Amino acid sequence: MKLLDIKNLRVYFEAEGGIVKANDGVSLELGESEILGLIGETGCGKSILGRVVMRLLSEKARVEGRLLYKGQDLLTLPENKMRLFRGKEIGIMLQNPAQALNPVLTVGEQLAEIYRFHEGLREREAKEKARAMFKRVGIKPDRLGEYPHQFSGGMQQRVMLAIGLALKPSLLIADEPTKGLDPSTKHQIVALLSALVREEHSSLLLITHDLEVAATICDRIAVMYAGEILEAGPAKKILSSPGHPYTRNLLHSLPKYGLNVAVGQSPSLISPPLGCRFHPRCGSCLKKCSKIHPDLLKTGPRTYVRCHVYGKSGKADEIMKGAPEEMSEKTKNTAEVGRCHF
Ligand SMILES: Nc1ncnc2c1ncn2[C@@H]1O[C@H](COP(=O)(O)OP(=O)(O)O)[C@@H](O)[C@H]1O
Ligand SMILES: [Mg+2]
Repeated sequence: MKLLDIKNLRVYFEAEGGIVKANDGVSLELGESEILGLIGETGCGKSILGRVVMRLLSEKARVEGRLLYKGQDLLTLPENKMRLFRGKEIGIMLQNPAQALNPVLTVGEQLAEIYRFHEGLREREAKEKARAMFKRVGIKPDRLGEYPHQFSGGMQQRVMLAIGLALKPSLLIADEPTKGLDPSTKHQIVALLSALVREEHSSLLLITHDLEVAATICDRIAVMYAGEILEAGPAKKILSSPGHPYTRNLLHSLPKYGLNVAVGQSPSLISPPLGCRFHPRCGSCLKKCSKIHPDLLKTGPRTYVRCHVYGKSGKADEIMKGAPEEMSEKTKNTAEVGRCHF
């Protein structure tokens, strides 16, 4: 069963230069007890997607579409009900724990406060529960009286994880939980996150710009680009035979391939390229790619690709192998360098 079913979600902001289309027709589903990795370059709209699920956006954001959680549209839920949902049904580890944690409360107080508010526990019981939760994430009880700034980046993420899972939510959203961590700490956090989420039978929406992290623990992967989903499907399939040229570029930019050549820039979310938004950076670009916006096409069970290379049958046709005469000069140049990374 689908735990979360996002349908045609749009999140627009009015900015000085025009309307920022941070999420522009996003459709995405997440099953029960499933780990979904949402990957994409900085600025493509990942955090906005995570925040809108928790309804944590400013009132200025224009939000359209449907956000079905257990069949109920979160976008129409009254704020007082949403407040009870936050933490209890859906937990979140916000990007940048140093900013997300309250600097003037000890970590113990911050976690105990959650148990007091949501479960009506008294001081002592709440502290006891906080202590037990911190133990699960590998924080010793003698650190409960410390403030967030006294913790390292990795330990702050453990605090965020304790807070995110405190009320055993059905869904945890983790926004860049490994950003800025050294490789060994990164692996520890990813392993802990995955182990706890599996233990709780919760679902996880793992937002990351790091494909390696997503590859380690995800059941499914969705690739975001300029406010849109370009590809989604089982992690194994995406990692072994990606459908979209952009996903192929991401895979080739992994360190094991040793290719780290950046080609082009992420497009503006105010005036994204016409046609396929990736076409100016694509090595398999056709003439129509700069004119016609491709739909997200179903190419297999719970597998989707937004690329003109896929015909109505959902199968890639010969164009994917490259029809050089159809490529524009600009694209040919891109194809030669051929890789991007983020
Ligand atoms: N309040 C806002 N007003 C205008 N633009 C915003 C606002 N919040 C985010 N954005 C823009 O939305 C885009 C997507 O941001 P974000 O979701 O944080 O990207 P990501 O998490 O993928 O790096 C960015 O271009 C960002 O500048
Ligand atoms: Mg972000």
